Amino acid sequence: MKAVCPGSFDPVTMGHLDIFRRAASHFDEVVVLVTGNPNKQSGLFTIDERMDLIREVTADVPNLSVDWWGGLLVDYTSEHGISALVKGLRTALDYEYELPMAQMNRRLSGIDTFFLLTDEKYGYISSSLCKEVAKYGGDVSGLLPDPVVDAVKEKYSQ
Ligand code: PNS
Repeated sequence: MKAVCPGSFDPVTMGHLDIFRRAASHFDEVVVLVTGNPNKQSGLFTIDERMDLIREVTADVPNLSVDWWGGLLVDYTSEHGISALVKGLRTALDYEYELPMAQMNRRLSGIDTFFLLTDEKYGYISSSLCKEVAKYGGDVSGLLPDPVVDAVKEKYSQ
């Protein structure tokens, strides 16, 4: 069975990476899907940069690939014959945010969303919090994969 892990991943964190790896151990194939418009710079990293970073840190996972999508998630999954979404849940706030999306996606296409509980080591990590800490010179090593730590430092030194 094939699954998609969707998200903005601006940038990918250790928490995301843990979910990708665990999803890849449960499903035959996993696509990490970076969502957004590649022609619109809306985050710190472009869609291509986010994809390259995810490819670099998941290179050792043979059943995982990386793609992007600028439309409705269910259009991607229907076009590719994918019947599972996988998301991480850190807190009840994530649950409140994810529940209507999971129900809407199921209503639109019948797709099921599978939730993996975030490892407690990564429960407080988010891309936005890491960016804020890094922007003001704080240490984000261990919270982001090493190549991502370097890429974020590089961005904020420009
Ligand atoms: O990393 P994020 O921002 O929490 O990811 C949310 C994401 C990208 C999964 C969600 O916004 C999404 O599915 N976007 C694609 C457009 C879409 O299908 N929207 C309707 C969702 S019910």
